[in-house]
Order: sequence, then structure tokens, then C-alpha cells
Amino acid sequence: MKRRANEDPVLFLDSGMGGLPYLRHFRERNPGEDLVFVADRRNFPYGNKDRDTLAKLLSSLFARLVAAVHPKLVVLACNTASVSALDSLRKEFSGLPFVGTVPAVKPAVLNSRGALAGVLGTERTIADEYIQSLAGKFNPACRVMGVAAPELVEFVEYALDGASKAERLKVIRPYVEQFRAAGADSIVLGCTHFLFLLDEYRELAGTDMTIYDSLSGVAARAESLLSRQGLRGGTGVRPRCFLTGGEEPGAWEKRAGDFGLDLVLFDRPGGEAA
Ligand code: DGL
Repeated sequence: MKRRANEDPVLFLDSGMGGLPYLRHFRERNPGEDLVFVADRRNFPYGNKDRDTLAKLLSSLFARLVAAVHPKLVVLACNTASVSALDSLRKEFSGLPFVGTVPAVKPAVLNSRGALAGVLGTERTIADEYIQSLAGKFNPACRVMGVAAPELVEFVEYALDGASKAERLKVIRPYVEQFRAAGADSIVLGCTHFLFLLDEYRELAGTDMTIYDSLSGVAARAESLLSRQGLRGGTGVRPRCFLTGGEEPGAWEKRAGDFGLDLVLFDRPGGEAA
């Protein structure tokens, strides 16, 4: 692997648009860094795949991404990818720092007034033992109730742009009520797609439940790794959004533009990588 340099970009990856709020948050705090966002739409959704399948597909995608982009740091802006493949990617690309995104279970169980924290994620994330192990490590007296919400991922990916405030509230209400009825005093947003509905979760949670996310924790971790390794700085080039898969870019043209990204079709079937 070529030596990493300050002017290399920081790469953010998700299966779709979930990682975009993470990129935006990082960019606001670090305007000097060059950024590449990868939306792996070819393999969307990640949440219904098993650990091995995800580890394999991410390993093969990163081999192509590293060759094409040469990132200095990677943020896996996806809980499902992180709980499934962070360890194997770190081993395989040993010179490249990876920052994972995992559900903010630690603050939720540490601050819990009762004995139950709620975690909302994909099927794969909720099934992963990592979630329960975090709870056990930081506050064994607090139980964790994991709920998988694949249809919320689909809603954000496909229907959010045209959805009214009332429709957004409607789609998350059953989940919030499920946690409330069980006596949870927190809801951890354990899927990056759910950040697009943060205001709605907060509104429905009211004062009896706290909503936790990992936006600032992930940005802080990436910043500290860059500083520690002397890798701060960029060239000021406009950030790009790499879109994998064979579908027409469609909504992604606008979406990338809304986030200030230039769209690049990457890794198309039968085509050359960008
Ligand atoms: N955004 C991803 C996460 O944080 C997963 C969505 C999917 O199922 O692809 O888990």
C-alpha cells in the first residue's frame, strides 16, 4: 500500500444515504479535509445479510476503493458494516486506520435511570452479540432491548425526500411506543439512516426518553486519529460521492448536490472503476 499523505481524502462509506449526516458533521468541523463518500447501493441493504457475506463484500469493495481513492482514513458510517466487518477490514488493510460506527449503547446504559435501554437498528446489528456485550460491560444492571427496523431503512432510502412531517412521525411512532411501553428511558439510534429522522424521534420521545446517536463520537475519533498520525489537511477539492451499482443515479444526482458532493458512478457492472 502506498504511503498515506495529508492530501489523501477521508473516505466515508455506507450502503446508501445513512452515512451522509456523518460526513456533513465531520465536514462542518473539518472544512480543510478532502472527502469521498461511498454509497454502496449495489449491495443495499446491508441489514439483511449475514456477517460473512458482509465481510466478504466489503473486503472486495475496499480493495477497489483503496486502489481508486487511496484514502488516509476510513469512516465506516454504517453500524451494520462496523459490527460485522470492522475487525476483518482492520486486519486486511493494516496500514489504513478505520473508524467504526457502533450504536451509542455506552452512554445510554450509563445514564439510564431505570433498567432498560432501547436500541433500534438493522436485523444484522440487533442480532450481533456486540450490543449486549457493551451493555454488560458498562452497566450490567441495565438491560438492552434491541428492535430491528428494516422498513425504516427502506423508508429513509426511498421515501424520505417526498415525505411530509406527519408521514415521518407516523412511520417511527410504533417503534417509539414499543420502547415506551416496555419501560425504556432511552432509544439509541443504531443505524445511520435513522439520523435523518432525529427531530421526529426527539419530538415523540418527549421528556421521558433520551435519544442517543453516535455523530459526534465518530467525528471526534476520526479527528483524533488524523491528528495523532500527523495526517491533517487537504487540497480543497470538492467532495465526491461514489455510487456503486447498476441502477440509474436518479435521486442521487440531487441528493449528492444537496450535500455539496459531485456524483461519480463507481464500480458499475461491466464498466471500469472511476
Ligand atoms: N445505514 C446502515 C447502518 O447504519 C445500514 C442500512 C442497511 O441495511 O443497508 O446500519
